[in-house]
Amino acid sequence: MKLKTKIIYSVVFTTIFTLFGREAWVLYNYKITAEKELLDKIEKTDKMIVGAVSNPIYNLDYELLNETLELFFYDPDIKSIRFVENQGITDTILDKNYISDIDTITKELKVIYRDVELGTIIVVYTKNTISEQIKTSFKEGAITVTIVIFLLVAILASLLYQIVKPINDLIKISVDISKGDLNEDIKIKTNDEFGILTANFIKMRDSIKSQIEQIQSENLQRREAESRLLELNNSLEIKVKDRTIELETAFDDLKSAQKQLIESEKMSSLGMLVAGVAHEINTPIGIGVTAASHLKDEIDRFRKSFNENKITKSYLDNYLTTSEEIAEIILSNMNKGRALIQSFKNIAVDQSSEIKRQFKIREYIDEILLSTRSKFKRTKHKINIYCENELTIESYPGAISQIFTNLLMNSLIHGFDGIDEGIIDIIVTSTKSVAIIKYKDNGLGISKLDIDKIFNPFFTTKRGLGGSGLGLSIVYNLVTTTLEGEIICESEIGLGTTFTISVPGIIQSTS
Ligand SMILES: Nc1ncnc2c1ncn2[C@@H]1O[C@H](COP(=O)(O)OP(=O)(O)O)[C@@H](O)[C@H]1O
Ligand SMILES: [Mg+2]
Repeated sequence: MKLKTKIIYSVVFTTIFTLFGREAWVLYNYKITAEKELLDKIEKTDKMIVGAVSNPIYNLDYELLNETLELFFYDPDIKSIRFVENQGITDTILDKNYISDIDTITKELKVIYRDVELGTIIVVYTKNTISEQIKTSFKEGAITVTIVIFLLVAILASLLYQIVKPINDLIKISVDISKGDLNEDIKIKTNDEFGILTANFIKMRDSIKSQIEQIQSENLQRREAESRLLELNNSLEIKVKDRTIELETAFDDLKSAQKQLIESEKMSSLGMLVAGVAHEINTPIGIGVTAASHLKDEIDRFRKSFNENKITKSYLDNYLTTSEEIAEIILSNMNKGRALIQSFKNIAVDQSSEIKRQFKIREYIDEILLSTRSKFKRTKHKINIYCENELTIESYPGAISQIFTNLLMNSLIHGFDGIDEGIIDIIVTSTKSVAIIKYKDNGLGISKLDIDKIFNPFFTTKRGLGGSGLGLSIVYNLVTTTLEGEIICESEIGLGTTFTISVPGIIQSTS
């Protein structure tokens, strides 16, 4: 049930009960008083009737009796009056037949005159007036109550309308809000408590609205940030993958480049050897060719003289001596060439094949120096070898030749850069099984900062000037891996550089 209906019902019922209760109470009191008054009146009337009728009855003046009784009969409270004689004969009857005799009081009045009983007057009183009065009062009351209730209901309804309407409005708004519609235009219609309530309600709704909007925009921003982060992560992942692939490729390229460089560095020391040998061999072959063409000239001349029969003994003797000399020159130079080719063959085969064999260290170093001699030829540098002739080792000559070639070239390029007369000492000693090779130049030396890095691949102080930085790293690898030995470097700026290499495999030492 709605609040409005509840209030109206309770007010109407209360009013009805109160008003009707009061009416009933009033009517009840009225009835009691009226009945009491009626009884008093009846008593008086009784006496008056008896007083008035005794004389005419006694005188048998029935006309007067009738007139007298008719006078009383006007009383509205009297329904009927009857006179009954002693003998039981009823003389006078007055009756208002239109009045019902339900609520009546019957009185029998003995008429006694001078101690003689003359008869009985029977008066029937009616309470009709009272009940009529009560009925009328009740009707009036009912009408009043009805009017009051109508008015009350009307006033209440209008009041309640004024109260309930704004409440209903607020309910509608709150329903809208609960459904999520926060944009309904709410009007403040009154400036009473409801107006204030509505205003506060609007404020509340607006604050909810702005909070929701804030949360929504924050959510949106967060979602945007999240998706941006996700995007970023994805692109980052892709980038990382791409970069990783790039790096891997670059690393592979680098590795193969390094391998190639190392190979080419190895080849370049071989190439250096070839160049050296080619240069060396040029002289004996050149001399041999000159001598041979000289010999051919001699032979041609000899044949011509022979054909002309002009050969004398002294000419023949002269010719033979010259030919012998030339042949000797050719022979010795050819031998030189053969020796050179042999040593070149040895070193070249050693360098490229890495075969382990027995060899004499001194001899081998000499052969190496022979092939690098062309590089040093135009300088005034001096190379001293201190090594027992018979010191024999079983090792890898190719590796040793590569090591020496590199050390010699470094001394020439780095150590003696700007120095005309440098000295290189190669001192080989041995323990029972290990050869100790000290390679020493008195060149520029290496700074403390660089000395820890010289064995690193690609470390060079001559980058862009032909340095690859691989020479000493190859030396280090050959010593420690192929020869299974050790190498250390000591150097001081201005005092030169010393490499100490120990190589196992000594077979015959002289000490
Ligand atoms: N005998 C030496 N005297 C002075 N510096 C040297 C000597 N040997 C090597 N170095 C230094 O060590 C570096 C590395 O040598 P190396 O590995 O052979 O590379 P590269 O000769 O290509 O520069 C050289 O650049 C040089 O600075
Ligand atoms: Mg070098």
